[in-house]
Amino acid sequence: MEVIITKDSSSASAKAADLVAKAVRTKPDSVLGLATGGTPVELYKRLINMHKNEGLDFSKVRTFNLDEYIGLKPTDKQSYNFFMRENFFDHVNIPRENINIPDGMAADIPGFCSEYEEKIRRAGGIDLQILGIGSDGHIGFNEPTSSLASRTRIKTLTQKTVDDNARFFNGDKSLVPLHVITMGIGTIMDAKTIVLLAFGANKAEAVSKMIEGPVASMVPASALQLHPRAKVFIDRAASGKLVNTGYYDWVFERKPEWQKDI
Ligand code: GLP
Repeated sequence: MEVIITKDSSSASAKAADLVAKAVRTKPDSVLGLATGGTPVELYKRLINMHKNEGLDFSKVRTFNLDEYIGLKPTDKQSYNFFMRENFFDHVNIPRENINIPDGMAADIPGFCSEYEEKIRRAGGIDLQILGIGSDGHIGFNEPTSSLASRTRIKTLTQKTVDDNARFFNGDKSLVPLHVITMGIGTIMDAKTIVLLAFGANKAEAVSKMIEGPVASMVPASALQLHPRAKVFIDRAASGKLVNTGYYDWVFERKPEWQKDI
């Protein structure tokens, strides 16, 4: 796991955006795994700017979103489908047919989940997966004790995640759906490259367990320790509970020239 601590969330988002742009320029039909939440919003803004001002072309890109609430329609403002259109898809040139988001209204949820897995396989797998992290260490909606080998499936949210995400539902916890569809940890781990972003002191505990704690299903993000190419971009506040920060900075400052833009 490569840990990159930046002075603020903006510089972390800029570095992550450069990485995504490079992937798309190198492989125009890249398969991107996308995340929702407050964290990746600036990354999406920067990609939109690159599309508008630097000709970054998404016309062949294919995307798979991590997760969706069950029972919300794509037109519901709190759905991840709506979020993605508003924050990214409506502003870049990804063809609609290349966009995949779990269907929270699917009548046959297990059937939908195996088809989603099959679609990812048929696309050749995810080249680059963007992730945030929940304050309880979840990735996607894989809550603590999720199997580290899990695939796309239904999950039930913890009270903590309901509380955290209520801010997107006008603060009304009773409106947050309890059930969700999420890529599994095994699905996420199959991505060729993983880029995780985490900002703010509220994430410091989860970040320290993810990076320096044992690999454990109680901290789903700790599975990334087993990934061959996982990059974690965090701001100073989110790095607050790490022990080894000196080493992460030392490594970053001394990267060999050839490794700098990878
Ligand atoms: C939700 C999403 C996750 C996201 C997490 C953190 O639970 N399912 O993908 O990483 O929230 O969200 P935020 O970035 O708003 O802190």
